[in-house]
Formats: sequence, structure tokens, C-alpha cells
Amino acid sequence: MRRRPVNILAVLGTRPEVIKLAPVLRLVKKDKKFRLRLCATAQHRQLLDQTLRVFGLKPHLDLDLMRPDQCPSEILSRTLAALQGVLRKEKPDILLIQGDTTTVWAAALAAFHEGIPIAHVESGLRTGDLKRPYPEEANRIFTDRLSSLLFAPTPLARKNLIEEGIDPRKIFVTGNTAVDSLLWVLKRPRPWTCRTVASWAKKPGPIAIVTLHRREIFGKPLKGLLRGLLKTVEKNPHWRWIFPVHPTPQVSKTAQRLLHHPRILLAPPLDYLDFVRLMKRCDLIVTDSGGIQEEAPTLGKPVVVMREKTERPEALDRGNYLAGISGKNLERALSIKLKLPKCNPFGDGRAAQRIVAAIKSWAGL
Ligand code: UD1
Ligand code: UDP
Repeated sequence: MRRRPVNILAVLGTRPEVIKLAPVLRLVKKDKKFRLRLCATAQHRQLLDQTLRVFGLKPHLDLDLMRPDQCPSEILSRTLAALQGVLRKEKPDILLIQGDTTTVWAAALAAFHEGIPIAHVESGLRTGDLKRPYPEEANRIFTDRLSSLLFAPTPLARKNLIEEGIDPRKIFVTGNTAVDSLLWVLKRPRPWTCRTVASWAKKPGPIAIVTLHRREIFGKPLKGLLRGLLKTVEKNPHWRWIFPVHPTPQVSKTAQRLLHHPRILLAPPLDYLDFVRLMKRCDLIVTDSGGIQEEAPTLGKPVVVMREKTERPEALDRGNYLAGISGKNLERALSIKLKLPKCNPFGDGRAAQRIVAAIKSWAGL
């Protein structure tokens, strides 16, 4: 029988990691069988702080690693170097990470070097193409390979892992914690924080949300997409478009230069509560985000996925439509998309409970 609590070190660095780890951290924090330490790499600075505030999370350690316009190798090397010291000092029984960012891959590799077991939330997502999304597909494969506990959100993710030779005893199908977080927020309605978005949302008429940030669209594809968006806006005079712009300079500078239209609102990144409220209000989402592909089906909202491949095919043609990354496809996608039947294959809001139960069982509790 285990006498001391299980020391969990959770490492996170970006907005989606906070959103998707928060439900697990909430359960771990209130369970006396665990001692939780939270380390923020701050791969994201403003987006991380904005999201931590929403969930009332305060990291014990903050490595403050973000630099303007960083590239994956820079953030990887800074994170790997900094985490070695953290892991040696904290000596966790297990490292808890979520997703496929550079923070996640660096944390997994650092833990592997220190001989610390890894619990990976959202394992097994694959497009089968190392360049899409880039570099996340590689990050996922490497991280899963090193993990001792793999929390696959869906049966398809489990199948992907088994096909790569991962021991099925390490894999748990849990649902995606994105759904847990979304349902948690829906139970806590709150007034809008962003007044401009609030005033647009309150006016009647159809609204589409746009979010774009993937590295594989930087440069020419992004310009093509935004030009396609402008044409689509012109052709649909009753629609208004809200684009919370990701702060990555490759996106924010291009969007601010190209998107001038009275029916397009370029907004700052919205805090998660505002963003969920906006998703509930909207009629359509055009995005290359991973998390939004899981949230929108839960809210019954149609999504045009501006990517060539997705690691979340479960909802394709049942709410989510894969449109590629050419601006020309956008208009066609919109007409098909709005007619698709809806489904929600990503979870039931109890993924975090299953994850915590599996960690307890692994620790012999
Ligand atoms: C990262 C993840 C991506 C995830 C996305 C979530 C990697 C390789 N990519 O992409 O998987 O989908 O986060 O949003 O890990 N910036 C700020 N403030 C912020 C955040 C970013 O100014 O709060 C700017 C900085 O100039 C930074 C740049 O954006 O250098 C890029 O940030 P980075 O985390 O490297 O990549 P993302 O594109 O955000
Ligand atoms: N999101 C948010 N505010 C925004 C845009 C997105 O809170 O202005 C949330 C969204 O609901 C989802 C997550 O951020 O939960 C997705 O993050 P992002 O698209 O940056 O990363 P990805 O999911 O593609 O890794």
C-alpha cells in the first residue's frame, strides 16, 4: 500500500494546453493522494496568462521562455535546457503533459532523460503526414513513443497507437478533455469581457468566426486564404465575420494588412469564456485550430477546416468539412458545410475522471 502522495509535475506552455489540462488539474488538486506541482514554460506569454486566469490556475514555476517570432528549434532548446533543472529539483513520480506543442515534446524528452515516467493526455492523434500539421505531427509521435500512460481521446486514436506498436495496456480511451472544459464553462455564464465583440455578437444576423495560426500556412497560403475570405465576405452581404487574431506575427501582420472590410472584425485573442460564448452565438466557424474542431461539434456548430489533412477525422462530413488551404475552396466549402448533419464524437465531459482513475491505478492507489 502506497503511503506518500503521488508527486505529479504538470508542464504546460500554450493556450490549448491550459484549456485541456485544467479539468485534470482540478481533480488532482482536490485529491489528497496527489501532490501537484505546476510548471509553465510560457512558450506563450499573453495567451497563457489570459487562459490561466480563466481557470484560476497559478503555476508554482514559470520559465518565461517565449521570445517574439520564435521558431520551434529555439523554443525546443530553451525548454529542454530549462526543464532538466526543474525535473532534477522536483523529482516527480510522473510528468503530466497534454497535446503536441514544442513544450510537450521538450518536456517528454527531458523526462525521458531523467528516467521519469510520462502521462500523455490526447495521445494517438495522427494525420499520417509529418508535415501536416508541422511540427506537431512529429511532436505527437515522439511524445507517445516515450510515454508510460497514453490517454487516447477516441477509439481511432487508440487504433493509431496500436498500429505503431505501443503496448495496448498503456492506452486508455478517455474522451477529449476539451469537452470537459467546454461543458464546465457553459455552466458558468459570465458577461462579455471584450466589448467590441460583444456589440457585434448582440446584433442580429449570421456570424462566422475565423481563426488561423498553423505554421504550414505561413506566407503564400495564408495570403491566398485571406484573399479568398475577402471574396466570400463580398459575396455574402448578410454575414458578418469575427476574426480573433492569433498573436504570432506571421498571422497578425498579414491579417492586419489584407483584411480591411466593414463586415470583418479583427479582434484580439479572446479569453476562453468570451470565445465559448461567441462559438455558441455564431452560425459557422472557419478554422485551422485543433481544439475548435472538437468544441464546435459539441456545440452543434458547422466547421470549415482550413487544412489539407486533419488528425480529427471523426467529425468529418458530420459537421466538420475539410476544405484544404486554398482560398478558392472556401466559398464552395461554405455551401456544402452548412447542410451537413451534426455529431459529437470527441467526448462526454468525463475524460478527466478517467485520466485521474488511470493514474491512480498506475500508482497502485
Ligand atoms: C503553438 C503550437 C501549436 C498550437 C498553438 C496554439 C508549437 C510548435 N506550436 O503555435 O501547436 O496550436 O501554439 O495557439 O508548439 N505569441 C505572442 N504571445 C503569445 C503567444 C504567441 O506574442 O501569447 C507570438 C510570439 O511572437 C511567438 C509566436 O507567437 O514567438 C509563435 O508562438 P509559438 O508558441 O512558437 O507558436 P504558435 O504559432 O503559437
Ligand atoms: N480559443 C480562445 N480564444 C480565441 C481563440 C481560440 O480561447 O480567441 C480557444 C479555443 O476555444 C480552443 C483553443 O483556444 O479551446 C484552441 O487554441 P488554438 O487554436 O490556439 O490551438 P490548437 O487547438 O490548434 O492547438
